Amino acid sequence: MKSAGEIKLQIINMDKTYDNGDGVKGINLDVYSGELVTMVGPSGCGKTTILRTIGGFLPIDRGDITVNGNSIAALAPEKRPTAMVFQSYNLWPHMSIYENLAFGLKLRKHPKAEITRRINNMLEMVKMPGFQKKYPNQLSGGQQQRIAIARSLLLQPEVLLLDEPFSALDAKIRTQMREELKKIQKELGITIIFVTHDQEEAMAISHRIVVMNKGVFEQIGTPTEIYDYPATKYVASFIGEMNFWEHGDRTSAVRPENVKVSPGFKEGAINGHIRTIMILGHYAEVNIECGEKLIKSFIPRTELEDFAEGGEVHVGFRKQTEFSK
Ligand SMILES: Nc1ncnc2c1ncn2[C@@H]1O[C@H](COP(=O)(O)OP(=O)(O)O)[C@@H](O)[C@H]1O
Ligand SMILES: [Mg+2]
Repeated sequence: MKSAGEIKLQIINMDKTYDNGDGVKGINLDVYSGELVTMVGPSGCGKTTILRTIGGFLPIDRGDITVNGNSIAALAPEKRPTAMVFQSYNLWPHMSIYENLAFGLKLRKHPKAEITRRINNMLEMVKMPGFQKKYPNQLSGGQQQRIAIARSLLLQPEVLLLDEPFSALDAKIRTQMREELKKIQKELGITIIFVTHDQEEAMAISHRIVVMNKGVFEQIGTPTEIYDYPATKYVASFIGEMNFWEHGDRTSAVRPENVKVSPGFKEGAINGHIRTIMILGHYAEVNIECGEKLIKSFIPRTELEDFAEGGEVHVGFRKQTEFSK
């Protein structure tokens, strides 16, 4: 992926409003060839709506959507160079895995030998070789979702649209699927628009992230840009963890890993008592009661020996961000 590469998909001044007034407004997005862009935001912010307009399942009210510079806005879904995978696997239960995968290729009249070869290769790629004769109900959720993704990839779309594809899976499988998707994406160089409500998942897999709020884009940037330089208070609170202080018409924000905790009280510093220490793996979440305010910090486990619940500490901030309210 080259961020200065060619634009694969473009959404230009797009609006889509439902009859009840809900929807998305003023959507502009350039997605580069071979890029994985994630739209992230809470439930109801309009992620699926945008994916469906790209896939052709919802007409747009205003603006345009292009692939390789050509408008696709008037095309039926099956005429678009896109393929979509949903949260529920949508495999046909009465068809074998082979038949599920072959369906779209048969419609496109590919020769049988080529279909078989492509399916075999694709099953290798999604780490499910030999599954041709199985049926969907013999597969785990993670395996079914791999087949759903494989089925979309076999159609060789210009843009693959993934709507919360892993959110029904267990945490462990979910992180494994992330890694595999990243690998497949790199190997094939395919352009992907991924949707999730899980900010950690977005941070983990994306070249760039779009943070959405109530039908509009709040910020577009690399995971690092979004995390280190959140453009708004909303982005700062949605991505990662953040301590906030309101003062007058300003808000200060400090990430827990930027809260420096030292033992003992200190004159002129922010002093407090440790309320809780929770070991979360290689680091601990330490909550400190400073007057009315509870400050959250993350401390490496190796630095924990100086601290105990109830202990006196003072805190400092390594880095903070200011927002106008
Ligand atoms: N078919 C529909 N008719 C009316 N309102 C809808 C319809 N689909 C979604 N909405 C509303 O549009 C908003 C965005 O929905 P959606 O795109 O599904 O959000 P997300 O995928 O981010 O959870 C929500 O307020 C939702 O209730
Ligand atoms: Mg949705």
